Amino acid sequence: MKKRSVCFAGVLLITFCVAVSAQESPYIVMGTDNCVTIQFQSLHAYSGISLEYWLDTEGGGFSGRIAQVECSMDRARTEEGDLFKYRVNLCDLAPASRYAYLFSDTEPNGSRTNVTETFSLRTCPSFAAVTGSLRFAVYGDTRNDTGKSQEEQEEQDRHLRNILGQVIALDPQPVFAVHSGDFVQFGADHELWRDFLGIIADADPKRSLHGNVALCPVMGNHEYYGINYQGGQTDTALALFFWNFGYPGGDGYNIRTESYDYCVETGPLSLIVLEGCWDNRQEGWRGLYQPAPGQADWLKRTLAACRAQNRVPFVSIHPGAFSSGAHGSPTDHLGGYDFRQFHALYEAYNIPAVFSGHDHLFEHLLVTRKTESSSMAKTVNPVRYFVIGADTFPRDRARGWTDWIDDDPNYNCTDDLFFNDAHCFLLVDVMWEPAGNSLTMYTIEYSLMREDAAVPVGQWASQVLLPEAVE
Ligand SMILES: [Fe+2]
Repeated sequence: MKKRSVCFAGVLLITFCVAVSAQESPYIVMGTDNCVTIQFQSLHAYSGISLEYWLDTEGGGFSGRIAQVECSMDRARTEEGDLFKYRVNLCDLAPASRYAYLFSDTEPNGSRTNVTETFSLRTCPSFAAVTGSLRFAVYGDTRNDTGKSQEEQEEQDRHLRNILGQVIALDPQPVFAVHSGDFVQFGADHELWRDFLGIIADADPKRSLHGNVALCPVMGNHEYYGINYQGGQTDTALALFFWNFGYPGGDGYNIRTESYDYCVETGPLSLIVLEGCWDNRQEGWRGLYQPAPGQADWLKRTLAACRAQNRVPFVSIHPGAFSSGAHGSPTDHLGGYDFRQFHALYEAYNIPAVFSGHDHLFEHLLVTRKTESSSMAKTVNPVRYFVIGADTFPRDRARGWTDWIDDDPNYNCTDDLFFNDAHCFLLVDVMWEPAGNSLTMYTIEYSLMREDAAVPVGQWASQVLLPEAVE
């Protein structure tokens, strides 16, 4: 497809140019409870794009009325025309339901043209439900690289399609999937974004993960990078990230716009997403990967609000605070080591799991702080850290060091699964039921799927007891 040069008018009214091609398949960006954003991009200006959606029965039929909503349109100026983004927020969806949807173009004479395939989406169970279950997936580090040969890029795309195909085929399908960051090699390169969106939002509903499963985006360090590591393109790269995803849709959710931090409350969960490479905004690709100013305070307030509502919190941040990959070393200048300062908060607020990427591997770790009092240590639940960054090539080399696991003066770490030789994703099932005396028992099961295995290659479970949820 012919490359085009496009100029975006960003939020700061800065105009800049990148290469762009059309992308026409819809994808879903997750929102708050029962609310999603669905959008697609096109080089064509349609006269009246609208989205039709209806409650979908498991048998493939439909019930209830078909609702039709008009899409908003954003425009980016290009040298050869305009790029358009059609976007709609759906915020009146029923909980624990499946909807079918399609886009069409209504001409001034009322005729419908350009009707897309029919996609579907699921909504979370209600927070007030006495019993329920919720499934989501985590994958990440999907970046392709213009430095790779055509064969290598095609090989990478084939593996990624395989993994996403496994997620699509799950029964039940996840309600949403977290991408742990590093979507593309160079955030300022729209051609790479075009290729990536073409994989996650395929025109064929059977191959389109995010045409059917909402995406929860986490910003990785490559989302700041200029084409071929050119400096001075961070604004372009970030504008492309926000053009493609923005913040999750819906009103009233908790965001912190000074960095890409947000908390989505969905079902009984609070999904907290943190920007881990904030200082890349100043330093290009030379950031130190330290918490953004005010980020720790926002995190603490968010966790406190989560606890006040008896929600179960999960955290996702691109660089892993604990990892035995290349970026886990305290001496690595791109490492997430400094985010260990959040561990005490995770511990205090009983975070079941932290999801990261960055290192091109999978690792599961349980971490506790070393304390003077062994009895105190026994009463503190370990924090479960997952590194899920294996969905690209090249893989990280084998562990360069493991000494910190045994010798770290501040933390006890145990890890029971590490590999760097296969694409993978993590499946998280959260189930809840009454536990008597106004308590609710949450059972959380984690299943790790590799591309080359039909059954989980790792499984873990934990339980969290919380007072009964009150809305
Ligand atoms: Fe990264």
